[in-house]
Amino acid sequence: MISLRHVTTTFKGGDITAVDDVSLDVRRGSIHGIIGFSGAGKSTLLRNINLLERPTSGEVWVDGEELTGLSAEQLRQRRHQIGMIFQGFNLVNNHTAVANVELSLTFAGVTNRRERRRRALEALELVDLADRAKAYPAQLSGGQKQRVAIARALATKPNVLLCDEPTSALDPFTTATVLQYLADINAQLGITIVVVTHEMEVIKALADDVTVMESGAIVEQFTTEQLRSDSFRPHTAIGSYLISEGISVDKGRTGTLEVPATLATHEDVDAASVTADDAATTLQKVGN
Ligand SMILES: Nc1ncnc2c1ncn2[C@@H]1O[C@H](COP(=O)(O)OP(=O)(O)OP(=O)(O)O)[C@@H](O)[C@H]1O
Ligand SMILES: [Mg+2]
Repeated sequence: MISLRHVTTTFKGGDITAVDDVSLDVRRGSIHGIIGFSGAGKSTLLRNINLLERPTSGEVWVDGEELTGLSAEQLRQRRHQIGMIFQGFNLVNNHTAVANVELSLTFAGVTNRRERRRRALEALELVDLADRAKAYPAQLSGGQKQRVAIARALATKPNVLLCDEPTSALDPFTTATVLQYLADINAQLGITIVVVTHEMEVIKALADDVTVMESGAIVEQFTTEQLRSDSFRPHTAIGSYLISEGISVDKGRTGTLEVPATLATHEDVDAASVTADDAATTLQKVGN
């Protein structure tokens, strides 16, 4: 469905290589998770798929067509078949929910206002938000905003949905709700989904296939079925870290920090040098 062939994306005249010779296949109808630490190149790679960020070299194929070989006008047309949602929802604040959804239809060339409204309401219905159509983003919860963004992405009837950290701004319960909508959209509308995240929970809950990125390159790939098996061992350190159970901190360690003398003990502070008056003056200044 999606095929990236030797895709490389550099910035600053080649000083930064965000995506480094990536070849990746995403199966039609699957949910493909891309995971990695901050700066690994996940967002750049995702934006390479719809050419929001045109790769410096390599080919991008979607649905049997080489996007990297299309004219600007052809590309504009094809882009409507690829929806996208973001961590920060990216809604227009002075537009109602339904007007936000209509925007994508306007960009897709749907000129009839009634048609746009009808299709926008249909898309909001999909995410159970038709009753909030007239609400402005500020009147919606984070989860509802992301559902409006999903409706906006779906309104043009895409066959691919790209999601960049779709739940990173949401609490765990709301995350589960939004992920359920994405799973339903995949199962019931047959839309292929690529989801970029640094949250292993999202991958475990949603993805069929997993790609691990580090320093712009793919370092490991596995299926979530493999991931669920007790005997599964990722072969890269980053893969192991990502599937490990959350953050672990060794509390009460000693002798690992180089502590400057002034911070070493509380008694070192020369209490006599700070008078009560000094303290009062300082506090007053801060207060003002
Ligand atoms: N427009 C840009 N100009 C210059 N450098 C960029 C640009 N976009 C991304 N980069 C750099 O490319 C690298 C990959 O960035 P990218 O945003 O793809 O990472 P990421 O994996 O999505 O990280 P995060 O998890 O923090 O979102 C980083 O070093 C980043 O600073
Ligand atoms: Mg990112």
